Amino acid sequence: MTQQPESDPTPRDWWPRDWWKAAVVYQVYPRSFADSNGDGIGDIAGIRQRLDHLERLGVDVLWLSPVYRSPMDDNGYDISDYQDVDPLFGTLADLDGLIADLHDRGMKLVMDLVVNHTSSAHAWFQESRSSKDDPKRDWYWWRPPRPGHTGGEPGAEPTNWGSAFSESAWTFDPGTGEYYLHMFASSQPELNWENPEVRRAVYAMMNWWLDRGVDGFRMDVINLISKVVHDDPPDLRDGVKGGPDRQAGPIDTVRFGDPGPYVLHGPRVHEFLQEMHREVFARRPAGLLNVGETPATTVEQGLLYTDPARAELDMVFQFEHVDLDSGPGGKWDVVPMTSRDLVDSLARWQEGMGEVGWNSLYLGNHDQPRCVSRFGDDSPEHRVRSAKALATLLHLHRGTPYIYQGDELAMANVPFRDINDTRDIESHNAYRAALTRGQDPDLAMAAIRYKGRDNARTPMQWDATEHAGFTTGSPWLEVSPDHVTVNAAAQVDDPDSVFSHHRRLIELRHQEPVVVHGSYTRLLRDSEHVHGYLRSLDGRELLVVVNLSGTDGQEAGVPDAPAWASAELVLSNAGEPAERDRIVLGPWEARVYRRG
Ligand code: GLC
Ligand code: CA
Repeated sequence: MTQQPESDPTPRDWWPRDWWKAAVVYQVYPRSFADSNGDGIGDIAGIRQRLDHLERLGVDVLWLSPVYRSPMDDNGYDISDYQDVDPLFGTLADLDGLIADLHDRGMKLVMDLVVNHTSSAHAWFQESRSSKDDPKRDWYWWRPPRPGHTGGEPGAEPTNWGSAFSESAWTFDPGTGEYYLHMFASSQPELNWENPEVRRAVYAMMNWWLDRGVDGFRMDVINLISKVVHDDPPDLRDGVKGGPDRQAGPIDTVRFGDPGPYVLHGPRVHEFLQEMHREVFARRPAGLLNVGETPATTVEQGLLYTDPARAELDMVFQFEHVDLDSGPGGKWDVVPMTSRDLVDSLARWQEGMGEVGWNSLYLGNHDQPRCVSRFGDDSPEHRVRSAKALATLLHLHRGTPYIYQGDELAMANVPFRDINDTRDIESHNAYRAALTRGQDPDLAMAAIRYKGRDNARTPMQWDATEHAGFTTGSPWLEVSPDHVTVNAAAQVDDPDSVFSHHRRLIELRHQEPVVVHGSYTRLLRDSEHVHGYLRSLDGRELLVVVNLSGTDGQEAGVPDAPAWASAELVLSNAGEPAERDRIVLGPWEARVYRRG
């Protein structure tokens, strides 16, 4: 336990600095969670009506995807006003009400915050684009056409960088004859963090939110805020196409140069994050959380971001395991992945972050397909058991677990018929780009069906009624047809449900210091289907063994197996084991043993 904060240490305000190590976070994607007024779009009032669900599950923190004012090109990740709520979602008063409701129930609110870029509709960008002499011109990345080229013509882009949404990273603005940089959609211009005024404006806005009572932030793509700027021209440089050195991730490095080495983990990123910490968090009482989304991060970089001595971020979302099934053509170039690949990757992070850094544990979010479909088996035979197996594997790792809405019910990928069934700008751009390249539309659609973000964005499945209890109107994105069997109403009171399994895992973390603080030792390194690890703290030990396959009769040859087989079984997804002297797992079976 750490020291009480010096300022106003009233019991209510008092939290240990690292309270989040024992916490579980639940992510709400507001557009798809609960609609209170029948316009087909989820809203804050809808979330407030459903807080029993979160309390029942036992989670500690709600991470709210963006509800700020936005043209919604990227569903709110394109912010046009940081200090207001979009009317689609409600009002600032609704948000204050949500904060109060959560605090009354002993939960916290972490706001998603996008400060690597704004919407092109933000007043800052409107001013910036108005003239080359505007005082805010330098708040964004403006560059003239490539020397010898005419602006707007193919090849005139200042660099050959691709954006994450299948286009060039540069858009020409005829008004001033220059290009602006965007690593995502063209309506998401990148803020220029080199400019101290930009940083001051961002910190002031973050402080305004903390003063309002929010408990922290999930910082969107925060490892992109510093770019490599050379002193001699050209200051920004072309990236390499393809090649073995490409960074994993969404960018098509067959068509475009890879911006990764110039925009990820840039030279000033640690300086900026330390400054943010000083200006926003350092002076406040503990009890806040600052988690960064950091694509293409290695364990070594993860350690730099999360070492508490460096005062940057509390934890990061790394992407290694969600990039395993991407080939050189980027996210849509789907390549096979085995459960060994998944566990090898998770284990590398468990071992690498060790006692210094801290992991965010996740298998799904609003940008990823449903985890039961991707890493488990969503067939009727294995869906429930594989969802529980994945949850067991993940939650008992060292780190803070994040549950994406619906994953606690084993919501699965959606049988989209064609591109018109989807709404996501990323999928639409990718589809268009694939067709332009002459790709077979069915193949392009197959990749979107497997990896498209709308898989995770269909409405939350509350019950078996029409539109799954999400809305009384017509939903902005079709409800998945399986809501008649897979829904919250069918699961919350059923002790054998995926929901109840998650509840027990959360309870275990809250009760067992070994889950929070214990060391991690990987077992069964060479096994194909059965994976396992040991957690231990002060003589207390937990053994987690999971069969990540539909193959029956998998023996877990862990050291000391006969003794473990007769130890206390704290959790299982397949009832009492038949054998008490060996550990033999059925299809997707997971067990947790305890001793000491
Ligand atoms: C992050 C968000 C994603 C968004 C992107 C651009 O990756 O999670 O939803 O599209 O940033 O803001
Ligand atoms: Ca609504």
